[in-house]
Amino acid sequence: MLEVRNVERRFGGLTAVRDVSMEVNKNEIVALIGPNGAGKTTLFNLVAGVLPANKGDIKFNGKSITGLGTAQICKIGIARTFQIPQLFGSMSVVDTVMVGALACSRSIAVARERAFQVLEQVGLRDKANQRSATLTISGKKRLEIARALATQPSMILLDEVVAGLNAPEVHKLLDLIRELRANDMTVLLVEHNIEAVLNIADRIVVLDRGEKIADGMPREVLNQKEVVGAYLGDDYVLA
Ligand SMILES: Nc1ncnc2c1ncn2[C@@H]1O[C@H](COP(=O)(O)OP(=O)(O)OP(=O)(O)O)[C@@H](O)[C@H]1O
Ligand SMILES: [Mg+2]
Repeated sequence: MLEVRNVERRFGGLTAVRDVSMEVNKNEIVALIGPNGAGKTTLFNLVAGVLPANKGDIKFNGKSITGLGTAQICKIGIARTFQIPQLFGSMSVVDTVMVGALACSRSIAVARERAFQVLEQVGLRDKANQRSATLTISGKKRLEIARALATQPSMILLDEVVAGLNAPEVHKLLDLIRELRANDMTVLLVEHNIEAVLNIADRIVVLDRGEKIADGMPREVLNQKEVVGAYLGDDYVLA
């Protein structure tokens, strides 16, 4: 579904993403992991059209999306959440989601209906009229997901959605992600919580200093020497 080929992104003298190729198949949940500064968010931004790549090509459903802007990429069915929730605190929960829904529909009534539908899906229906600022971290993460879902994507990019949540909240959020997949969503997520990754990912891709160093089944990848060395640390024991 998503094909990233030899993509590179530089910031001045720093190569944040170097010659990375990877794919995400339809209905798959792929986790992108790696140390801080490895280039995970940059790769998300390249896929989402926030940043142009300096080299390489990105295809979605067989068509090149290289060079398209965020609005066009949203229209073809890719949505993303932000590592740091980008919410307008004074806006109500439902209005925040409507902003996402209006990317696809010009009708306020349709956008409103869609917003309530996704709020129900993420478990925030009863908070619809509260200000976004009043939500807990877990609520804000769900709101980010709802706003992304409101654009009716076929693929969603989740940047550290379980960071900052306690264990029961993490499990509930992972359940939500599984539910999305059961409803035909394809998921690429960035995550530092290895337990969560093992719990949910079909496949793991590891970036280190901008380069892909591993790609495969979760347990196999987490046992690879390079991954342990670059990211997990030598005292890491796979549960
Ligand atoms: N807009 C930018 N301008 C300059 N440098 C940037 C920019 N965005 C990212 N970088 C640099 O690119 C590298 C990769 O950053 P990126 O945010 O993609 O890492 P990450 O893997 O998401 O890290 P983290 O786990 O901390 O979120 C870092 O060295 C970062 O400082
Ligand atoms: Mg990041």
